[in-house]
Amino acid sequence: QEKMRRLQLEIAKKTPLTVKIPDEIGVGELASRMKKTGAEVVKTLMKNGVMASLSDVIDFDTAAIIAEEMGCKVEKEVIVTIEERLIDTAEDKEEDLLPRAPVVVVMGHVDHGKTSLLDYIRNANVASGEAGGITQHIGAYQVQVNGQTITFLDTPGHEAFTAMRARGAMVTDIAILVVAADDGIMPQTVESINHAKAAKIPIIVAINKMDKPEANPDRIKQQLTEYELVPEEWGGDTIICPISAKTGEGIDNLLEMVNLTAEMQELKANPNRSAHGAVIEARLDKGRGPVATLLVQNGTLKQGDVIIAGTAVGRVRAMTNARGQKLTEAGPSVPVEIIGMGEVPGAGDDFHAVADERMARELVEQRKHEQKMAASGPVGHKVSLEDLFSQ
Ligand code: GTP
Ligand code: MG
Repeated sequence: QEKMRRLQLEIAKKTPLTVKIPDEIGVGELASRMKKTGAEVVKTLMKNGVMASLSDVIDFDTAAIIAEEMGCKVEKEVIVTIEERLIDTAEDKEEDLLPRAPVVVVMGHVDHGKTSLLDYIRNANVASGEAGGITQHIGAYQVQVNGQTITFLDTPGHEAFTAMRARGAMVTDIAILVVAADDGIMPQTVESINHAKAAKIPIIVAINKMDKPEANPDRIKQQLTEYELVPEEWGGDTIICPISAKTGEGIDNLLEMVNLTAEMQELKANPNRSAHGAVIEARLDKGRGPVATLLVQNGTLKQGDVIIAGTAVGRVRAMTNARGQKLTEAGPSVPVEIIGMGEVPGAGDDFHAVADERMARELVEQRKHEQKMAASGPVGHKVSLEDLFSQ
C-alpha cells in the first residue's frame, strides 16, 4: 500500500498541473492557481526580466511563459461576463434583414435654421386627420415623404451625437448640413462637417435663408470646396440644396435628395429580435419620472420589455411617438419616448432589451462599480514582457 501511495505521488509529480489564465491575472492569484508560493513566482518573473510584486497584474502572454517555465500546462480562461450572457450580439443573417427608414441628423451653426427646417418639415408632412400634429418637443420624429419614411433627429441631439461618436457608435445614416446663405461657414459648421466625416455618413448641404436679399449661395459653395465638399454642378459629388425654412422653398427637393441618398445605402435591419439602440435624450419629469427618447436601431422594442441603458434599468411602461400617440411596438429606425426607467439614462448611451431583470440589475451594479473604479484611478501596477521590449 505504501508502494501504491508513492507511485501515485510520482505520477502526480510528472503530470503537469493545468492552470487556467485569463487575459490578465494578478501575480498572487497566478501563484495560488499554480499551487506555488508568491516568492517563487516573483523570482521566476524576475529571472525573465519582469519586476513585479504580488499585487501587480500581468497579461496572459507573460503569465503563460512563467507558468510553463514552472512546469504547468496553460489553458486560456474565457470569462463570460453577465453582459455577454445578457446581451444578444449575434450577427443577423442576410435573409432576416428588412429595409428600414434612414436616420437623418440636421446639423449646422447656431441660428442657421436647423430647428426652423425641422419644424417646417414636420408641419408640412403631417398626414391630414392627425389633428394638431406634433405639439410636444421630442428629440426625434418620423415623417412620410412620397411614401418613404424618414427619421429625423432634432437638436439637442448634438450632445448625444458627441457621446456616441466617442464610443464609436453611430446612429445616423445621413447628415443635413444647414448653412445660412447670408452668413456662410462658421465654426460649428466645420465641427459638423468633421462629425459627419468621422462617422463616414453622406452630407447633404442645405443652403438656408435663400429668401433673404443678402443670400449669396455661390459664396457658400466656394467656401464648401475648402472642406472637400464640391457641388455636383462643379464636378464634385456633394448634393447642395438651396432652401428657405421660412417660405418652404426648396424643401421638397431636399427631402427628395434625402430619399435618393437613402435608397443608395440600402439600409436594413432585423425587426425580429430583441431591441437595441441609443438614448437620444432623457430627462426627469415631475409626474412621470424618468422620460427617455430612444431610437431603435435593430430589433423591435415592445411595451413591457426590460431594458438596460448605460447604468439605468427599467421596464417600458408606456411608449409614445412624437405625435403623442401610444405605441405597443417600435421597430428599427423608430424613435419613441418611453417611461419606466429607474433613473435617467445619459444621452448617447446605448440601450438593450433583455430577458432577465435580475441579471440586468446585476450588470448595472457591475457597470457602476467599474465606473467608480475607473474614476478613482488604476489599481495595481500593470507589467508585462512587452514593457521590457519597448524600453
Ligand atoms: P440653434 O438651435 O440656436 O443652433 O439655432 P437653429 O439653427 O435651430 O436656428 P433657428 O431655426 O432657431 O433659426 C434662427 C433664426 O433664423 C430664427 O429667427 C428663424 O426665424 C430664422 N430663420 C431660420 N430659417 C430662416 C429662413 O429660411 N429665412 C429667414 N429669413 N429666416 C430664417
Ligand atoms: Mg435649434
